[in-house]
Amino acid sequence: MSKTVRPTVRASKLLAAMSTSDKLALLTGVDTTAAPYADGGAGYAGYVPPNPRLCIPALTLNDGPAGVADGQLGTTAFPAPIAQAATWDPGLEQSLGAAIGWEAWQKGIDVLLGPNVNIARVPENGRNFEAFGEDPFLSSAMAVADIDGIQQNPVIATVKHYPVNSEETNRYSISENLDERTLREIYLPPFVAAVKDAKVGAVMCAYGLVNIVYSCQDANLMGTVLRKELRFGGIVVSDWNATRSAPASAAAGLDLVMPTSANAVTTLAAGIEAGTVTPQLIDQMVTHVLTSMFRLGLFDHPPPPRQNVYLAHVSTPADEGVALQVAEEGTVLLKNAGNTLPLHLGAHKTIAVVGAPAGAATSAFVGGGGSAYVTAPNAITPLQALTTRAAKAKDDVTYADGTDPAAAAAVAASADVAVVFAYDQEREGYDRADLELPAGQDQVIEAVAKANPHTIVVLDTGGPVLMPWLDQVAGVVEAWYPGEEDGTAIAAVLFGDAEPGGRLPQTFPTSDTALPTSSPDQWPGADDAQDAIFSEGIDVGYRWYDATKTAPLFPFGFGLSYTRFRYRHLKVKTVGSNVTVKFTVENDGRRAGTDVPQLYLDDPAAAHEPPKQLAGFQRVDLQPDETTTVMLTIPKRSFAYWNTTTHAWTVAPGLYRILVGSSSRDIRLRGFVRR
Ligand code: NOJ
Repeated sequence: MSKTVRPTVRASKLLAAMSTSDKLALLTGVDTTAAPYADGGAGYAGYVPPNPRLCIPALTLNDGPAGVADGQLGTTAFPAPIAQAATWDPGLEQSLGAAIGWEAWQKGIDVLLGPNVNIARVPENGRNFEAFGEDPFLSSAMAVADIDGIQQNPVIATVKHYPVNSEETNRYSISENLDERTLREIYLPPFVAAVKDAKVGAVMCAYGLVNIVYSCQDANLMGTVLRKELRFGGIVVSDWNATRSAPASAAAGLDLVMPTSANAVTTLAAGIEAGTVTPQLIDQMVTHVLTSMFRLGLFDHPPPPRQNVYLAHVSTPADEGVALQVAEEGTVLLKNAGNTLPLHLGAHKTIAVVGAPAGAATSAFVGGGGSAYVTAPNAITPLQALTTRAAKAKDDVTYADGTDPAAAAAVAASADVAVVFAYDQEREGYDRADLELPAGQDQVIEAVAKANPHTIVVLDTGGPVLMPWLDQVAGVVEAWYPGEEDGTAIAAVLFGDAEPGGRLPQTFPTSDTALPTSSPDQWPGADDAQDAIFSEGIDVGYRWYDATKTAPLFPFGFGLSYTRFRYRHLKVKTVGSNVTVKFTVENDGRRAGTDVPQLYLDDPAAAHEPPKQLAGFQRVDLQPDETTTVMLTIPKRSFAYWNTTTHAWTVAPGLYRILVGSSSRDIRLRGFVRR
């Protein structure tokens, strides 16, 4: 029988042996060039040196929403989190988290800076690709699975950026101004789930302000909500250089000032001296850091000592398999006129492939830019993979890079089918100016579509884009930023070796203006983009399209399959305070396929909620003619709204309609339950 001592007890014993300078050294980082494995500082985002006298290991911190990043070599470049969310597959997400956590540990990384759970409020957000879309329920499910996977390893996951970070314009100074109910119902739930359900080891506070208070200095949201209400006993770490005053942040609930700060040590020490920073506060901060380190196994399972870890190749075939599966399952088929897809051309036909992301031998198109960017020198390009796959079917592939519409049209005109790859390039620190495809790609698509009636557009985008050419093309596939298995995944989907298994985690609008944040006060914000006014309130994403009866281009939850599904036999049952919903899904097409039936709740009018809100989903794989029964339990919280009088979750008594469908705009079964 092995005995264990509680992490808090171990932390307090160690704390008792620490001097003030030992303690202060644990509350901020030093330059990453000091990290033993860093190559000239590359490979880590932050570094807290070890304390050999007290056997406290170093803390190395590294970005990780799409794989182990910050210039590390030999790690797997996974699909972007928006693609991960499009799988609606928490089981697979857990495998992805486990793979990233394992690679991190092999690289000597202790703290992984992910997942990013900021809700997609603004489609132009430059970090749209880096999080799980517009719905708090789906985002929570993906975040919990990801963190569970990461923390199966001796690695601390970090949920970020608390509490809100909805745009990149003026990200260091913008105040995101929103009401209490919106914060509780839309933006906080994934953080709550990360803390309560996944027991995340760290929370990162955001750069900006919320209601004119710096997030890393917010005593209410960090102190009262996170510490007291959610009883979070782990590390609160600042975003990089987001700490304006270490003593003020410490008093509000921050523990770890990142990335470096001699100033934090000096000001905290001066505060202790002057009696404005209490020794108890410092002890509390150190306890938070040590407790997560003990709890997640950083003391007991140090990474294997190795030479040249920075250069080590830690990606495994199994990890690449997960990356491929996520890329395939996350690919969303948006349009498929005349069943142009999957490609079944017959031998000796020609496929014209067009566009930079198809042929570029760089990893520029497989991930988004900024801290989440993972190098992918061995990414398989769509052109390579399609050429190989087409050869098997005895077909040929021709290519135009898409810089010249006329040249692209000429290649397309002499082919049987044309596949145009189009991209946007989202990156941290900048919002997109608008939702148009950049670099004249709309003109290229139009020219190709004119030249070939069997034109398919594959989008490598981090979020919604406008599609002025939608009526002119036969098919559209959203492949997001697909990670290093890019070509392999898209070739499998286009040829039907794999299902396009994804469903949209975010609404695609018809224009730059028919969307929830179209007023400049909302985005980029009033007062020269210093104040983002969340006047849409809880009507974020599909909630707004439903509430305002605005037609989207493609709705939340949407995605076609290569087969067809029928939903039947809805049964709603109340057992105690639990509500279970059962229905059958049948594959009544001719191919095996995947579906993601979704359950939405429509609350009684007294709750003043949007017309529908996601409260359950299940991914199902079915052979032709196969039927399965899906059973979903609606979480109690889904029936409640945030009551701003009592400051608590409240269930409005009345009739709740239960809507089951294949997207938020394709409801197939209806039932109800009273609460
Ligand atoms: C700033 C980003 O906002 C954050 O997400 C990231 O973890 C840090 N930089 C460290 O790279």
